[in-house]
Amino acid sequence: MTDKSARLTIDGAEIELPVLSPTEGPDVIDIGKLTAQGYFTYDPGFVSTASCDSSITYIDGDNGILLHRGYPIEQLAEKSDFLELCYLLLNDALPSASEKAAFVNTMKEEASLDARYHDLYKALDQNAHPMGIMCALVGAMSGHYHAGLDITVAADRDVTCNRLIAKMPTLAAMTYRHGKGLPFVAPRADLGYAENFLNMMFSDGDNYEVNPVLAKAMDRIFLLHADHEQNASTSTVRLSGSTGANPYACISAGIAALWGPSHGGANEAVLNMLAEIGDPSNIGNYVKKAKDKDDPFRVMGFGHRVYKNFDPRAKVMQQTCHEVLGELGVDNDPTLQMAQELERIALEDDFFVDRRLYPNVDFYSGIILKAIGIPTDMFTVIFTTGRTPGWIAHWKEMVSVNYKIGRPRQLYTGSSSRDYIPND
Ligand code: CMC
Repeated sequence: MTDKSARLTIDGAEIELPVLSPTEGPDVIDIGKLTAQGYFTYDPGFVSTASCDSSITYIDGDNGILLHRGYPIEQLAEKSDFLELCYLLLNDALPSASEKAAFVNTMKEEASLDARYHDLYKALDQNAHPMGIMCALVGAMSGHYHAGLDITVAADRDVTCNRLIAKMPTLAAMTYRHGKGLPFVAPRADLGYAENFLNMMFSDGDNYEVNPVLAKAMDRIFLLHADHEQNASTSTVRLSGSTGANPYACISAGIAALWGPSHGGANEAVLNMLAEIGDPSNIGNYVKKAKDKDDPFRVMGFGHRVYKNFDPRAKVMQQTCHEVLGELGVDNDPTLQMAQELERIALEDDFFVDRRLYPNVDFYSGIILKAIGIPTDMFTVIFTTGRTPGWIAHWKEMVSVNYKIGRPRQLYTGSSSRDYIPND
């Protein structure tokens, strides 16, 4: 709370509203009192609405800043790793060496999935979209882990958080192999988190060895996606969780929200778009289409609701992209060259400049994933794996204190009350 207040005058009557000050970012007008005065606020798409308090992540979209628990994403990407960031998101502090070792160990112990999960895959079509399978199987965990989960008990919540982070790459790799009709590969205790994921995806027996450059890139992709404050999927997890629902079901709801091309599905959409453009000589036409109000085409991987400057994650992703393609000896990859050319043209175009549309995290992640050998329809599953600690940290933050069920109101535009007249 500050000593500032906002005054709203409606029909000559003045309503005083408290102004709250965050540790970073713009002040927030508390409009909770308005309902008692007979008013709601109207903000479709929540463009001006803070839906909760949170101490996990801060974004300054104008200046391209992203902080997790106060730490800049660039420093975390350079000096930390995904599991350390998971610990940080969940605990509000970096782990000591022994805390980190214990956390990594818990992840290894929790990584495998009960054999009954293998049977669940048999019921799912081999051609199903992997995100549909992820929604179904994470939701199914609410059946499996319902007993012994009391969301009011801190220890039970911690077990749930760890379990979800640990099992997500296993589930993701099993989903991939199910689609390919390949036997599942169990997690190995001697491998790190990202290494294990790559091994469970691609191991063909004794001949497969994880490339450390690719494992580092994979870890960085997970890290760069780990949290992004109140985005659509995290807000979905919070809204579902606000009813007291089982957290596995809440995360499944978050996965469903992430699937869409305006959100996590954008990395898949970037590669599909680059394939559709086909040749650098066509880029001009596609940029024209993106600017045409009557054409639904958008440059996928460009623009962001919050960032009106370079997405700081995109810069790290671009660098990682060059490292991976260099390692694989494909740095003259035509898809990458086309992406760079598209980026150059768009960044010089007044339409994009005026609207402050810059590449976002998904612009380069798809190119890296493709180079690693991950098929396009698995890209959003990778995002899911990376975003799980963010979702579960927000769920934990909310249910660890007093919280209210989320219940937005509306501007009703339907018919006024009318009498029912039977047909005859
Ligand atoms: N290509 C062309 N024009 C665009 C684009 C784009 N990618 N993004 C926004 N615009 C234009 C839009 O047409 C509008 O123009 P005008 O003012 O003339 O009507 C203006 O920019 C503002 O767009 P908006 O749709 O009101 O902005 P928003 O904040 O509601 O949407 C967005 C944000 C991310 C959904 C949008 O930029 C978009 O569709 N981008 C492409 C999809 C994408 O890359 N999504 C991944 C986001 S980052 C990963 C994640 O967080 O999940």
